[in-house]
Amino acid sequence: MIDIHCHILPYTDDGPCHLIKCKEMAQAAISTGITHIFATPHHHNGLFENPKADILNRVIEFNKYLHQANIPLTVHPGQELRIHREIFISLEMGEVLTLDNKDKYLLLELPSGEVPTYTQEIVYELLLKEITPIIVHPERHRGFIEENNLLFELVQEGALTQLTSGSILGHFGKKVKSLADKMIEHNLAHFIATDAHNTNSRGFSLQEAYETITNKFGINRTFYFKENAELLLCGQYIYKEEPVPIRKRILGIL
Ligand SMILES: [Fe+2]
Repeated sequence: MIDIHCHILPYTDDGPCHLIKCKEMAQAAISTGITHIFATPHHHNGLFENPKADILNRVIEFNKYLHQANIPLTVHPGQELRIHREIFISLEMGEVLTLDNKDKYLLLELPSGEVPTYTQEIVYELLLKEITPIIVHPERHRGFIEENNLLFELVQEGALTQLTSGSILGHFGKKVKSLADKMIEHNLAHFIATDAHNTNSRGFSLQEAYETITNKFGINRTFYFKENAELLLCGQYIYKEEPVPIRKRILGIL
């Protein structure tokens, strides 16, 4: 399996702070069937700055380490970029790292409390540059939980989304799980990833999430997510189904 969002690099962000912990994470990933993983450190989120060149170097070093340790996990470079108004200046300055440095897909994080008013504009401008933003874990975002339609509008505009495996399993509470399910039902989700930070509370629950999706939505939906991750790894266009707006329930009735 392929995990497109994970914090596994040592001494980089709020992921593991020691190489031994990284090794444990890599072993845990392998034990759950993950063979390829995108290391996506936080960048420009107010706490961590991890520009492109730093991540590229760290991934090379980490892959060497994994090879020497005989751990059959391939790590690909990526970045979890916090949205900000000057994003295109950051791009020009070479700080932004797209997935696998292919300038096709970019993990985009929104601030947890709100959806900035300029989000649609940034998505539009990125798409014009042929970079498709993947909005990470919108189901965990208060702004989207309160106003589902904002999410529909962004997906309709051309943004992709990634659900966190733990959300599907209920690790982040009922509201988050509910929005994750609705997103799958309404064709508003395109990828599942672990967003793992360690081997315990924020570990590798991708396989478990796929099993839950299969039980709830059928095996074809699981194939859809797995295939999208493969297409992304190859830098190809991913499959999208027509997004459907999530209707608000009024007095429990749709
Ligand atoms: Fe993350």
